[in-house]
Amino acid sequence: MSQKRDLLGIEHLTSKDITQYLNLAERFASVLERPIPIVPSLRGKTILTLFFEPSTRTQISFSIAAKRLSADVLNFSKSASSVSKGETLLDTARNIEAMKVDGVVVRHWAPGAAKFLSENLAAFIVNAGDGGHEHPTQALLDLLTMRRHFKNFKRLKVLIVGDIEHSRVARSDIFGLTTLGAHVAVCAPPTLIPLQIEKLGVEVHYDLDAVIDHYDVVMALRIQLERQESGLFPSIREYREQYGLTRERAARMKSKSIIMHPGPTNRGVEIDPDVADSTMSVILEQVKNGVALRMAVLFIHSGGKIV
Ligand code: CP
Repeated sequence: MSQKRDLLGIEHLTSKDITQYLNLAERFASVLERPIPIVPSLRGKTILTLFFEPSTRTQISFSIAAKRLSADVLNFSKSASSVSKGETLLDTARNIEAMKVDGVVVRHWAPGAAKFLSENLAAFIVNAGDGGHEHPTQALLDLLTMRRHFKNFKRLKVLIVGDIEHSRVARSDIFGLTTLGAHVAVCAPPTLIPLQIEKLGVEVHYDLDAVIDHYDVVMALRIQLERQESGLFPSIREYREQYGLTRERAARMKSKSIIMHPGPTNRGVEIDPDVADSTMSVILEQVKNGVALRMAVLFIHSGGKIV
């Protein structure tokens, strides 16, 4: 594995690295099907989830993953900490590390926050989302979910629809999918597509209706109103009309194609409720696969040997 100690992003991972995470996640997925879904792999280790931004899925998923590996888990959230009294990220992390923490799973609004901690702490660091930069474990669980449905990335066609500009998930998914040889396209209003995104090896579309029936996977992204300036698209209603995954659009997709969304969803904006709950939607499979995938990440980065 090229990134030995920390998992900061997907950008610099090789195909072999990614496959190693996915294969180990499959083994942990079998553990999770047992009547007692626990293994002793991280007994005696302490994992901290250090979250400076809200999270439902990622923080709970890492906590469950660590517990299933028999680690001790501490959950930190910004609002209940001394950060609200002005303490810096580094002081917060150093104080927690002084209490003997082996691994830190960090989410922060600043791109590079996970790298900063990896340069300053002895504990291993897993990036759980740093601003608009990367969200590597979301991408890995997305890849695991796609591989379970399609087996082979080489012929897979994936369309990512929505707020690409502000999405760390889109960046990490693009890095992972292109590394594995999938064909990736994005579709959004021009204001929500980063300049020169083609350099990442993706195709760009602006008309969802013209292309939705070409893809095996259509992934909708949340419109991130909290990261946006106003005026990037005329209105929520107009966005839904042009880019929302409506029942009519879902009906035009290829047979056996799947709909993904990293969550949280804005129902009735980027995805309609009956599409999110339809048999084409694998949104809850993504969440389920996230636990096994994060067990694999914690195991590998805590120095576990794969036999
Ligand atoms: N997908 C994702 O990161 O969800 P949360 O913000 O709930 O963790």
